Formats: sequence, C-alpha cells, structure tokens
Amino acid sequence: MASSQPSATALISAYGRAYHATHAQEKIFDDYLADKLFTDEQRAFFAENLARAFAFFDPEGAADVTTPEEALARFMQNSSLPITLSRARYVEEILTREIEKGVTQYVILGAGLDTFAFRRSDLMPRLKLFEVDHPATQNYKRARIQELGWQAPPQLHWVALDFAQGNLMSALESIGYDSRARTLFSWLGVTYYLPRAVIDATLREIAARACADSILIFDYFDADAFIPERTAPRVAKMQAATRQSGEPMQTGFDPATLGAELDALGFALQENSSPADIQASYFRGRADGYSACEHLYFARARVK
Ligand SMILES: C[S@@+](CC[C@H](N)C(=O)[O-])C[C@H]1O[C@@H](n2cnc3c(N)ncnc32)[C@H](O)[C@@H]1O
Repeated sequence: MASSQPSATALISAYGRAYHATHAQEKIFDDYLADKLFTDEQRAFFAENLARAFAFFDPEGAADVTTPEEALARFMQNSSLPITLSRARYVEEILTREIEKGVTQYVILGAGLDTFAFRRSDLMPRLKLFEVDHPATQNYKRARIQELGWQAPPQLHWVALDFAQGNLMSALESIGYDSRARTLFSWLGVTYYLPRAVIDATLREIAARACADSILIFDYFDADAFIPERTAPRVAKMQAATRQSGEPMQTGFDPATLGAELDALGFALQENSSPADIQASYFRGRADGYSACEHLYFARARVK
C-alpha cells in the first residue's frame, strides 16, 4: 500500500460494515459504530462510486438495475462485503469464547477502521487490546476518532508499524504486551496483500514470542484464486479493483498444505473453514443474496 495514504481497502471494508449495519434486516455482523467514522461527504462519495462500480462487477446484472440505490445494494452483495462481515463475526465469536478460557490480550493486526475498542464495552474490561496497523492508516483513524470526540478506553494500545519492516513483537512488548499472557491475534483482510516472506516472518515472530496456546486467526485466498483460468469471476473483479486502488492481492495458500506450513512456523492448525463451511455458518437461508466468497478460507491455529 502507498505509504502516505490510509488503506483504501480498510476504508471500503468499514464503509461496507456501516452500510450493512444501517441497511440489513438480518445482520451478519452489527458494526453499529462504523457509520460514524464517515463524514457526509465521504458517505456520498462511496455511495456514488460503489454504485457505479456494480457495472464493473456484474455487467449483465447492471442492465436490470434502475436506481443508484439498487446498484449500491447489488454491489454490496457481489463484492467483498460478505467476507468482511463473516470474518469479523468469526473472530469475535471465538474471542468471546476464549476470554472465558483465559485469553486476556487481543492483538488486531492490520486493524483498519475496526471499532472493537469502542463497540465491545462488554469485553474490553477483560482485555488488553493492541491495534497494529500501517502508520498511514492508523494516523488517519486516530485523527478521525479525535474529531468525533471518542474517548479511547485505557486498555487500548496503538502500534504503528509496517509488517514488512518486522519487529512486531518488540513493538508490542515495548508498550505493555505481556508475553506470558494467552493472546488472540487476528489478521483479517491482510495476508493476501503481503508478500509471502513478510507473512512467514511475522508468523515466525509471533510463534517464537507469544505464549503457548495463544491463538492466531486469519483469512486467506486459496492458490486457485490467483490463477486466472481457475478463479471465480467475483474474485477476479476484486483483484482488479484492489490492484487499481494500489493494494494488489498477491499471496494465497493451499488449504491442503496449510497445516504443514503453519506447523513449520510454530503453529498447530485447528480449524480451516472452507467457503462451504463459511456459507453454512453465516449465510444459510439468507434471502438477501449474500453468500460466502469463493476461494476464501478462515484459519484458526494455536501457538505450539
Ligand atoms: C482490507 S484492510 C482490513 C482492515 C480490517 N482488518 C478489516 O477487516 O476491516 C487491510 C489492512 O491491512 C493494513 N496493511 C496493509 N499492508 C500493511 C503493511 N505492510 N503493514 C501494516 N499494515 C498493513 C492496511 O493498513 C489495512 O488496515
């Protein structure tokens, strides 16, 4: 991503959560604070541009659409929003369970405009929270929070860091991360934008310095997603759109070998949810056209 601008994909993910929270009858994930992160001008900008983008995602479908509102609603069904919503719910469901089993720290890697710290006042008193993000995105978010007058809870710690430069665990330890405490690390919507060497180095560092039985959750695209003749049309369009916004998707994993690869990095894979699993957990029976994204998996692993 560009080093001076906040991540465009982080803004679009948050806009999608805001849209869902303010429009959906039956919510997959209710980020009721996300809408407040946007000014009226930003909301109008995203609504207009994403409605227009629907014709790119689904040229045939666009022929039947009569209003910009309908085009925006169809864009939300047919783009990355189902991934954004389901991965956020997946992590917070696991975190809620794991807090009961002794997890006391939550590290959000590549947090973007995640509102957890302000939204989950039920869980915050039981956690130390670390938000790690690229400085350009994190500075943008902090400035917006200040403008809104939101009071950051004392348990929230900020770490501005480029994963490519390493030193994640030292940065965390320098602001109060306790390496003896069981921790949940989430890395949502990030691995596919990083080179594989950066992912491996980051995971190796976590496994070496987080305490045993800490948890890692990330989402990933399978290797087929990156092969033009095998990838699903929706995923190919997402790749084209993120490339254009300066955040090209570049790395996937093979679900069949992920367990062995994580094992070599110091983790035991515990869950590897396929698109069919995600469909069954979060999208079954929905009448609004949302469905799990082809090629997109959720991985949950523990530090050995
Ligand atoms: C698609 S957004 C995901 C945000 C959030 N996790 C979510 O689910 O909405 C990708 C995030 O990864 C961060 N990111 C991308 N490359 C990074 C890097 N090299 N170092 C640190 N953060 C990075 C961006 O700043 C952005 O917040």
